Amino acid sequence: MSSSAARSWIEPSDLSAGDLKPLVVQLEAERQRLQEENAQLRLELKERYGFSNLVGSSGPMRQVHEHVSQVARANTTVLLRGESGTGKELLAHAIHYNSLRARRPFVKVSCAALPHDLIESELFGYERGAFTGATSNKKGRFEIANGGTLFLDEIGELTPLTQVKLLRVLQEREFERLGGTESIKVDIRLVAATNKDLEKAIAAGTFREDLYHRLNVFTIFVPPLRERKSDILLLADHFLEKFSREHGKQVRRISTPAIDMLASYHWPGNVRELANVVERAVVVCDANVVHSHHLPPTLQTAEASGTMQTRTLQETLEAVERDALQDALKSARGNRAKAARLLGATERVFNYRVRKYGIDWRRFRA
Ligand SMILES: Nc1ncnc2c1ncn2[C@@H]1O[C@H](COP(=O)(O)OP(=O)(O)OP(=O)(O)O)[C@@H](O)[C@H]1O
Ligand SMILES: [Mg+2]
Repeated sequence: MSSSAARSWIEPSDLSAGDLKPLVVQLEAERQRLQEENAQLRLELKERYGFSNLVGSSGPMRQVHEHVSQVARANTTVLLRGESGTGKELLAHAIHYNSLRARRPFVKVSCAALPHDLIESELFGYERGAFTGATSNKKGRFEIANGGTLFLDEIGELTPLTQVKLLRVLQEREFERLGGTESIKVDIRLVAATNKDLEKAIAAGTFREDLYHRLNVFTIFVPPLRERKSDILLLADHFLEKFSREHGKQVRRISTPAIDMLASYHWPGNVRELANVVERAVVVCDANVVHSHHLPPTLQTAEASGTMQTRTLQETLEAVERDALQDALKSARGNRAKAARLLGATERVFNYRVRKYGIDWRRFRA
């Protein structure tokens, strides 16, 4: 600092490169500290909210969530098994975002969607000239996922040849690009999913047993929706809110008969099917309550539900009437005079009907 003696402040021109150096070092240290703090806060947020989009509090689902949170922070290979639409991909995300790799890439490979002759170049990449059309080098998904998580979806669909190559990468954690000679090492966490019966596939000779053992390190079975009935309503409400928002509608509630239908259906397409049914209901719903007639025909028939019995015309009419009475009571928050007005009935007729169906109007009071 040369000519600053007469002043009590410092001008930038007073500072020599030598003076600036400690300041730059200090600023850099501060920047790094903030960056680390930021990363830490993000991680804490992920931990807190990472599971919030996983709806379900049934016993089987609580166990799944527990397994996911146990394994997420380790680098262990996870195999997610369960029927189509049970939420395997959602869980794969939860594992990644609750792991130490949360800020690194999550890369998905749909083994079934890729043509057999493309899957290897997709996974391992290629060098220029490896085949006609390979005009430049291309990284494969293994390389892109470096430091993060590679999600191999529908692993049961891999061809025998790709199974061999995959097994090698899993054993050695290194591979070559197609047409390349250099070995590439990667640091990835593997999560795989399948709805196939792998043991059957092994017995049939279509899935390699050694690959199965490599993948079968920490297996999580995601139960079908019909085995966690108590989640149906929670999920239906979750989707109702989500799709109402997305479609700009005010659908707020599901009527009791519609809930009964959702609860007694066997859901072969699991959560995905439920999401589709609720979205359809939101779209066709003209008021703010989903009624049974807003649900698709598959849920209306006795055969489909498996438990519903065929109703006579009289029973059907009574069900509709009971539904209407309850809805009116809900809207009027248990005020019977108001509920009667909503239905265009006199209080006397309304009260008679309520008694006839044994509806406890008090439980609708706010
Ligand atoms: N517990 C859950 N909470 C909220 N949404 C869920 C839940 N489980 C599944 N979903 C939703 O259901 C749909 C199907 O889930 P996902 O794609 O994860 O199923 P999957 O098991 O991978 O099915 P597939 O085997 O057919 O690929 C998705 O839209 C997903 O967001
Ligand atoms: Mg999936």
